[in-house]
Amino acid sequence: MAGGGPEITSNAAQSDVTADSHGGADAHGADTPLLAIQALDAVYAGEAGTVKAVDGVSIAVARGEFFTLLGPSGCGKTTTLRCVAGFERPTAGSIRIDGVTVSCIRDNVFVPVHQRDIAMVFQSYAIWPHMTVAQNVAFPLETAHVPRREVRNRVMRALEMIGLADLHDRPATHLSGGQQQRVALARAVVKDARLLLLDEPLSNLDARLRVQMRRELGQLQSRLGTTTIYVTHDQDEALSLSDRIAVMRDGKVVEIGTPRALYLAPRHLFTAEFLGQTELLPARSVTRDGDTLRVETPIGTLRVANGVDEPSGRTVMIRPEHIEFATPGDTGPNLVDGRVAQVAFTGRVVEYAVATGSTTLSIHALSGSMFDQGEAVRLRLPPERCVLVGDADDNHQDETEPGHHPA
Ligand SMILES: Nc1ncnc2c1ncn2[C@@H]1O[C@H](COP(=O)(O)OP(=O)(O)OP(=O)(O)O)[C@@H](O)[C@H]1O
Ligand SMILES: [Mg+2]
Repeated sequence: MAGGGPEITSNAAQSDVTADSHGGADAHGADTPLLAIQALDAVYAGEAGTVKAVDGVSIAVARGEFFTLLGPSGCGKTTTLRCVAGFERPTAGSIRIDGVTVSCIRDNVFVPVHQRDIAMVFQSYAIWPHMTVAQNVAFPLETAHVPRREVRNRVMRALEMIGLADLHDRPATHLSGGQQQRVALARAVVKDARLLLLDEPLSNLDARLRVQMRRELGQLQSRLGTTTIYVTHDQDEALSLSDRIAVMRDGKVVEIGTPRALYLAPRHLFTAEFLGQTELLPARSVTRDGDTLRVETPIGTLRVANGVDEPSGRTVMIRPEHIEFATPGDTGPNLVDGRVAQVAFTGRVVEYAVATGSTTLSIHALSGSMFDQGEAVRLRLPPERCVLVGDADDNHQDETEPGHHPA
């Protein structure tokens, strides 16, 4: 299963050093990140020139954590994962798995794929068509020379876990897409590896199956407790599954945080926009006023409780579901008068467009409240839901510390 595709350029000599010779003093300690990526670069050399697919990525993932790489197509997610697995050689930086260096350009270390304790589900989940379900799942154990009886037990356990035990005898090609996807997952979890790498494992499923498999995957991971690196460009998947997410763009990590923190209080405009719908108001000037910021925007002065006043480009963001309709007697900050320009009833939610001066704001309200087109309304933008984000292209990484082991 070695990676195909063009060579990755590398200034590393071909010296495959065994993992143990590079174990750190604190290897295997509870505080050691299970995965530590430091200043990783990866460059593809092709006929059309070179592409820096990974550019200075640093990530530390705690034991048992479900950690997601999220970003648009081509931002370097798969390449990062393949460097961790050992299918690609980085051009700079280092990777440690459970305190043991598996890749380090400076020290000329590169531990080959089969000596890294990882299991990977590939973006094109590639199951073997000439084998049965059980043979597919047994494959990684057989290549590792696990005794036959143990193979049988572990395969059946993995298939039961994934809900495919009844189909173990069936040719792998006689399965639905979702079932094949499960075989690929079973083949990964059967290895009982220290690190599970999943590259868009749900991308080939239809929307309904995807949601169902997402739920099952989350349950499976919390049952196994295996440290998991998950790659997706689907924000719903990332938000609902992850303990923490690294948002990536152009080979770089823009920001790392919990789903809640990144959705509710992102630091970067890119994160705000990538993680769902957002209303954006350019900040004309910002002054600190006690615990909050006072920000001049096209719809007036807003009190903003979140965000840092960075000198770079600045924007106030608020999610459409956090803008409220005020009642006539309401007082307090961030009240804005407007007129309903559009109403779209979608069932659970009503989507309003409200014009306030030259700005139109989207508001998503539960379907209990109804306002008509043309109606005058007063909006409230709660200060604690307003966030000042930087929109500079600075891309610096804010944080690489591992999160805590999920309870
Ligand atoms: N084998 C290759 N040869 C040359 N360039 C490559 C190769 N594989 C990837 N790239 C380039 O490297 C960059 C990162 O690609 P990568 O596959 O890591 O992105 P990704 O985030 O996984 O995207 P997607 O969401 O589409 O899978 C892209 O610009 C891509 O075109
Ligand atoms: Mg990819």
